[in-house]
Amino acid sequence: MEQAYPYGGHCPKADMVVALRLGESTMSIGDNRAVVITGASTGIGAACALHLDRLGFTVFAGVRKPEDGVALQKAGSDRLVPLELDVTDLATIQKSRAVVVDATKERGLFGLINNAGIAVVGPLEAVPISDLRQQLEVNVIGQVAVIQVFLPLIRQARGRIVNMGSIAGLSTMPLMGPYSASKFALEAITDALRLEVQQWGIHVAIVEPGAIATPIWNKSAIEAAEREASIETELRTLYKSVVTAMRKVVGEASKRAIPPDAVVKVVEEALTAPAPKTRYLVGTDAKLRALMVRLLPDRISDKLLTSILKLPH
Ligand SMILES: NC(=O)c1ccc[n+]([C@@H]2O[C@H](COP(=O)([O-])OP(=O)(O)OC[C@H]3O[C@@H](n4cnc5c(N)ncnc54)[C@H](OP(=O)(O)O)[C@@H]3O)[C@@H](O)[C@H]2O)c1
Repeated sequence: MEQAYPYGGHCPKADMVVALRLGESTMSIGDNRAVVITGASTGIGAACALHLDRLGFTVFAGVRKPEDGVALQKAGSDRLVPLELDVTDLATIQKSRAVVVDATKERGLFGLINNAGIAVVGPLEAVPISDLRQQLEVNVIGQVAVIQVFLPLIRQARGRIVNMGSIAGLSTMPLMGPYSASKFALEAITDALRLEVQQWGIHVAIVEPGAIATPIWNKSAIEAAEREASIETELRTLYKSVVTAMRKVVGEASKRAIPPDAVVKVVEEALTAPAPKTRYLVGTDAKLRALMVRLLPDRISDKLLTSILKLPH
């Protein structure tokens, strides 16, 4: 049975088996192992935090506003610890690490889920450079900053890192340049990191979801409308038809978006499977788009997208 969830998604199945009978003792899948998840206030992050909490992990949930931490604590178990963590603010990352060290001592950190993210969209000619910087600051630099600070603890536990990528990190569309650039970068970071840390038995995976029903769509649309209103009339006119076409496409995609549960499941798998995969596509849309990238030459793919999205050409 699914419960209503206060974080823009659905609670994982309430009847999920979280305990395994192991001989005489009952042990949870999470077994109290510590995981840190960034961007846990809403959407995928909140859903993952609560799911992993239910599985018996000790979840350290990164939020930027204290009230989001309080809400998560109310929804979770006594084990769940909110961390005030902004991925663009090194001091908050270091403070969070101190909290985790204090709680876990020599056990170290079993899992780090780099989930925090924003979506800046708009024509590359018109996007303010400060917005592009912020996109990369949060979705790329901030992720590495968090990894750098927590890696010694993950090494201690021979733990795992799960990066929240996107199908936009394998395939892009008009107006998606800033967001896609950040997620393409995260793909490279994941691949490089995986090879660098394998020597300590640390596994690194990237999750590549298609459209997931979370507040990010609305936030991004509001910010895009504000950005559009602030650009020069001439530029706005030049991009009017592509913006109109993409608004329709994004509107339809957001209606087809699936609940975060599907992402939650693969995050669990990436953390707990004996032989985890390096990348996890989530959703039919993501799988189809990944296939298109693999099979179609650029010109054919451009033609197809131009026709499907009804882009001006
Ligand atoms: N929804 C989708 O269709 C989709 C598809 C593919 C990938 N993703 C990825 O999934 C991840 C989670 O997004 P979501 O869809 O769940 O959206 P969401 O509900 O908007 O969640 C984004 C989270 O990131 C946090 N965040 C933003 N800036 C931050 C910063 N500087 N430091 C720390 N946290 C920050 C937000 O915190 P505040 O509440 O404080 O702003 C929020 O907790 C993102 O990386 C996104 O790119 C989403």
